Amino acid sequence: MDSTEKLNRQFGIGGQLGFRAVDGGLVVAEINNAHATASLCLQGAHLMAWQPRSQAVPVIWLSRDAVLASGKAIRGGTPVCWPWFGAHVSDPSFPAHGFARTAPWRVIESGSEPDGATRLTLCPEESDKTRALWPHDSRLELTVIAGETLRMELVTENTGITDFEITEALHTYFRIGDIGAARVGGLAGCDYRDKVGGSTPGKQDGTIRFTGETDRVYVNTAAECAVEDDMLKRRIRIAKSGSLSTVVWTPWTEKANRMGDMGQPDGWRETVCVETANALENAVKVAAGARHTLIVEYRAEPM
Ligand code: BG6
Repeated sequence: MDSTEKLNRQFGIGGQLGFRAVDGGLVVAEINNAHATASLCLQGAHLMAWQPRSQAVPVIWLSRDAVLASGKAIRGGTPVCWPWFGAHVSDPSFPAHGFARTAPWRVIESGSEPDGATRLTLCPEESDKTRALWPHDSRLELTVIAGETLRMELVTENTGITDFEITEALHTYFRIGDIGAARVGGLAGCDYRDKVGGSTPGKQDGTIRFTGETDRVYVNTAAECAVEDDMLKRRIRIAKSGSLSTVVWTPWTEKANRMGDMGQPDGWRETVCVETANALENAVKVAAGARHTLIVEYRAEPM
């Protein structure tokens, strides 16, 4: 029996959840229920798509240049950044945004919610490679519930006898009509560090509008925020708990060209990242034996 056949037997839900082999030997979970369609690559537990039936256009953006290959981060969707966000704090040779997004994960549970949404829980496989990067006894688990809303719960458990600290993000790329017609609301008055200006501190004045590369970590904010899209005439609400940082990022022309996988020539204009995170001074200390849970829920509505 091949691995997809096994997965379908153990975790498939007739007509609602199935597993399929795709490029590069990777496997994708496909969800199709009364409320939405969604897909998630088992490598990285990487959400690649979510489109509620109420929406004519997907809510999650996936680059048309995204590469599905073993050990390579997928461009778009929701990369899971863990156990560090951005560059590693002391070793720049370690992978950016941690290793969870490129590690193989295994499915541990699936089910149907009372309202008909589909639930899938995964955890990463440990290996010599992950232990070399993260020599702590820990357990990570991601649950995705796809329905009219999309909910993700990322649980970090310290299974060892010494405390450790993590930074993390659910680094979602949202689909928008055009970056020039999009705003991010809900962060007015919040303090941020501007990574474009080499970590310059600032305070958000009103709604965020985009006129160039933007790469900001908003700190000490548990606020709900929203992507407001004048072109698609919709608002995507982002409600969270267990997260005190929100990262807002668009690469703009030059950086997108350098990156090369943002959907040439101008795919980058159709997305903005709003990342539910704990970063910089909001790093989370997880005490021995304790658990920390980060939750985010997205809802798209007309505007
Ligand atoms: C954002 C960072 O979260 O992710 C940016 O703030 C970074 O600085 C971006 O460029 C994309 O990172 P990567 O590693 O997926 O190219």
